[in-house]
Amino acid sequence: RGKRAFIAGVADDNGYGWAIAKSLAAAGAEILVGTWVPALNIFETSLRRGKFDESRMLPDGSMMEITKVYPLDAVYDSPEDIPEDIKMNKRYAGSSKWTVQEVVESVKQDFGSIDILVHSLANGPEVSRPLLETSRKGYLAALSASSYSFVSLLKHFLPIMNPGGASISLTYIASERIIPGYGGGMSSAKAALESDTQVLAFEAGRKRQIRVNTISAGPLGSRAAKAIGFIDKMIEYSFANAPIEKELSADEVGNAAAFLVSPLSSAITGAVVYVDNGLNAMGVGI
Ligand code: NAI
Repeated sequence: RGKRAFIAGVADDNGYGWAIAKSLAAAGAEILVGTWVPALNIFETSLRRGKFDESRMLPDGSMMEITKVYPLDAVYDSPEDIPEDIKMNKRYAGSSKWTVQEVVESVKQDFGSIDILVHSLANGPEVSRPLLETSRKGYLAALSASSYSFVSLLKHFLPIMNPGGASISLTYIASERIIPGYGGGMSSAKAALESDTQVLAFEAGRKRQIRVNTISAGPLGSRAAKAIGFIDKMIEYSFANAPIEKELSADEVGNAAAFLVSPLSSAITGAVVYVDNGLNAMGVGI
């Protein structure tokens, strides 16, 4: 049978999550997605109305099918964690069972198991503030949404992941080099995500033979990236300075992700893999 993938962090057809879903679908995987609760309504409506039909097209001419969309908010592990204001929030009231634990329970009930876990989500409420001006609350929120969310998803999915399965997340080079503008603790969150990739590779590998890798992706004009404000500059900078002089397409990251969760990469785990036209290898801009 084909593999089953759960992709957390898809809410439109512009981001890396969507491109990864397409690459996995093209390789024959069944696609389940987890969509941030406040974005769920518009995503499902757009899907239903055919707004994404053009970008659902796969290389063989068929359309990517999303078997099921689960509402998800990855900053909450179980119902006890949900604060009152979120419970009362109109955008959350229409959905249920969207904490990490409940989503995994639903997937288990619906399908029994998965083979592939993709984490393509991040959020840093103070991302546009320099680290020196970031509040404790903003910093911890960035870590919660962008780093611990992966620990939590892997922890809860692990018992229903088939041995030989794999997970992948998305990181950014701001974790290890200075990228002014990537603030609010987001650089810190990516550093945590990369370090956790190693520790979790060991723990999930020993426990269930599951691999854990992360892709350090080059700049893409996604919805999240546009919110940061300097993405066009980064795309230009990359074009001007990377060894391969071209704009990075989300599909290239999708294809690398498909490789990293497939048996073709069965000995790769705990790795940060750069998919950035080689920009990371440059010492200075030219
Ligand atoms: P995107 O906007 O397509 O994806 C981010 C997703 O996270 C959105 O769908 C959003 O709804 C979801 N999300 C935010 N908070 C959430 C929560 N609490 N629970 C569940 N979902 C939540 O943007 P993009 O850029 O494709 O981001 C995907 C990943 O790629 C992120 O980890 C990002 O940091 C990473 N990345 C992006 C780069 C870029 O230039 N766009 C470069 C390197 C890494």
